[in-house]
Amino acid sequence: MPISRRHAAQGLALGAAGLALAGCTSPLATPTPARAPTAEPSLDALARAKGLRFGSTLGSLGRSSRFHDLPYRELTARECGVLVAENETKWQALRPNPGKAYDFAAADEMFSWARARGMALRGHTLLWLEPKWLPAWVNALNFGATDGETARRVLAEHVSTTCRHFGDSIESWDVVNEAIAPETGELRRNVFSAPLGGVEQIDLCFRLARAHAPQAQLVYNDYMSWGGGNNARHRTGVLKLLTELKRLGTPVQALGIQGHIVARPQASAADATEWRRWLDEIQALDLDLLITEFDVNDKGLPADFAQRDAGVAAVARDWLDVTLAAPRLRRLLCWGLVDQHSWLHGFDPRDDQLPQRPLPYDDQRQPKLLRTAIADALRATPARSA
Ligand code: G3I
Repeated sequence: MPISRRHAAQGLALGAAGLALAGCTSPLATPTPARAPTAEPSLDALARAKGLRFGSTLGSLGRSSRFHDLPYRELTARECGVLVAENETKWQALRPNPGKAYDFAAADEMFSWARARGMALRGHTLLWLEPKWLPAWVNALNFGATDGETARRVLAEHVSTTCRHFGDSIESWDVVNEAIAPETGELRRNVFSAPLGGVEQIDLCFRLARAHAPQAQLVYNDYMSWGGGNNARHRTGVLKLLTELKRLGTPVQALGIQGHIVARPQASAADATEWRRWLDEIQALDLDLLITEFDVNDKGLPADFAQRDAGVAAVARDWLDVTLAAPRLRRLLCWGLVDQHSWLHGFDPRDDQLPQRPLPYDDQRQPKLLRTAIADALRATPARSA
């Protein structure tokens, strides 16, 4: 049985009744937002009231620079207490060419803007393990199976240089990102796997991060979520990895749950129970939890904006209610705030070619039902003690 009790109330499958409920009568019109953003507390204020923080990402690289969109970044400052750089602290961005020095300029500019507005900072990510996301020059290094010393030196130089540059300004680092392949639940392989080993390269990165960013929370970040199939295999693999890291004494302190959830297929009550049980198992390893990149992929929902926004909000609320209830979860970050700036347009476009609507604000910077769902989930979640 689908758990989304709010789909009916918010009109996902109700046609005219749903459109009317969402304040909209014509297809593809933007539904009237439930509340104006300035008339109520920011999402970070709602989060703080429960012992959490709310945040989002900004980027300044690429075709559409979010950071240089001034109204957008002011919206980010108004809603957020935590900022993470979308791309600017990745290895590929910091050092695309080994013949040149590290380039921290883009990250520094955003971070100094954020700090001036009182935001805490997250670092993302010291090692994105999948070869596709490593710099080409790193993939081209030919260590051989026995040259562990050189491989270790390359990793150590990157982690130490990056951590030392940002110093104690970063409260939390995604030390390793996406090490588990969802198709198999096994560790991905990269150029460091033969000379160092799979778990060993991860352990090394955490130890280096501990040494060079002693004040930061050290996080393993990945995108497993609720549901069966690849998600189930992914959860099993991540739990196995974290259990092994704990056995080795690796200084990993938290799991970052990216939270790129999908509106369809809908989760069942059994999926939610299993997700809750899995979150309990992670916390039982003495790990904290964060939601690091929340958004809702609406590919499986109808074209109509009102129906889509209602469906996105309903799925988000269900997922957030379960996930935020985890007692050791203290951070909720979205992967952007305004639909227009979502990574999904390029990476997972809808079949009907309409833009995805995965974030809490529409392109006119008006709050959507998803913002209401996030706010209500924060209001409903139990308070954490300090
Ligand atoms: O900055 C370069 C630019 O110099 C170059 O000319 C241009 C040509 O394509 O590319 C620009 O870089 C792009 C970058 O975004 C900045 O716009 C990369 O091609 C593009 O691959 C990169 O995509 C990012 C992706 O991670 C890969 O790094 C997305 O913006 C970003 O949203 C996405 O974020 C990831 C998280 O890091 C990890 N979890 C999943 C999440 C979504 O995929």
